[in-house]
Amino acid sequence: MSRLEVADLNAYYDESHILHGVSLTVESDQLVTLIGRNGAGKTTTLNSIMGMMPRVDGQITFASTDLTGLEPYEISRQGLSLVPEHREIFPGLTVRENLRMGLIGHESETKFEELSEQVVDFFPRLEERYDQEATTMSGGEQQMLAIGRSLMSEPDVLLIDEPTEGLMPSLVEKLRDILTEINERGISMLLVEQNVDLALDISDYAYVISEGVIEAEGTATDIQENEQIKEEYLKV
Ligand SMILES: Nc1ncnc2c1ncn2[C@@H]1O[C@H](COP(=O)(O)OP(=O)(O)O)[C@@H](O)[C@H]1O
Ligand SMILES: [Mg+2]
Repeated sequence: MSRLEVADLNAYYDESHILHGVSLTVESDQLVTLIGRNGAGKTTTLNSIMGMMPRVDGQITFASTDLTGLEPYEISRQGLSLVPEHREIFPGLTVRENLRMGLIGHESETKFEELSEQVVDFFPRLEERYDQEATTMSGGEQQMLAIGRSLMSEPDVLLIDEPTEGLMPSLVEKLRDILTEINERGISMLLVEQNVDLALDISDYAYVISEGVIEAEGTATDIQENEQIKEEYLKV
């Protein structure tokens, strides 16, 4: 079973204790969302899972492998991939070159072509712009590239940090379909979103975080229907 399991995770920036005993599970093929207000600890949770925090304790396992304390590239090799907040498209590089940055090993040129072809099949807009400098594209196209770049590592689990941030409503709808389709292709997902309605709409299960503590969890429908939780932890 390719289950991602985070147990009693604490995370720190220097003297600041940010996450306080976060536990969550993403079963294989599930789409799970982590929602909460700005500053609640969502990005810190994803960064902790990817081995990018200066200090954590607790336990992170994926498919029975202990990821705790591994370097980010080792965690990628285990099948996890992060689509970072603010996309982090590499400036000065074309779409093709950005996709190449998503490879995790020294894959052959043939393998690169094969993987990038799958990505542009999925995002035809990127094909049209293959040799264009990536940062000259629209926000929506850059978000597709960020997701496409993550797919280049053929992940089992995608961690996605606020993919709809700054997108026009029509693109938000499109992105919803894209996330659902990626999940239907058998990639599990831990989705962080400020757009709570969208996140609950497409997720199987949800965790609500506030001040570094998981305050509620349940099926997306349970959370959707719980006015008290929404009022207390999710209203802006
Ligand atoms: N580099 C950093 N150094 C110190 N504190 C940080 C740093 N990054 C984030 N924080 C703090 O950690 C808390 C959680 O932040 P974050 O995980 O980014 O929240 P979210 O993604 O839910 O908006 C916030 O209080 C934020 O100020
Ligand atoms: Mg964040």
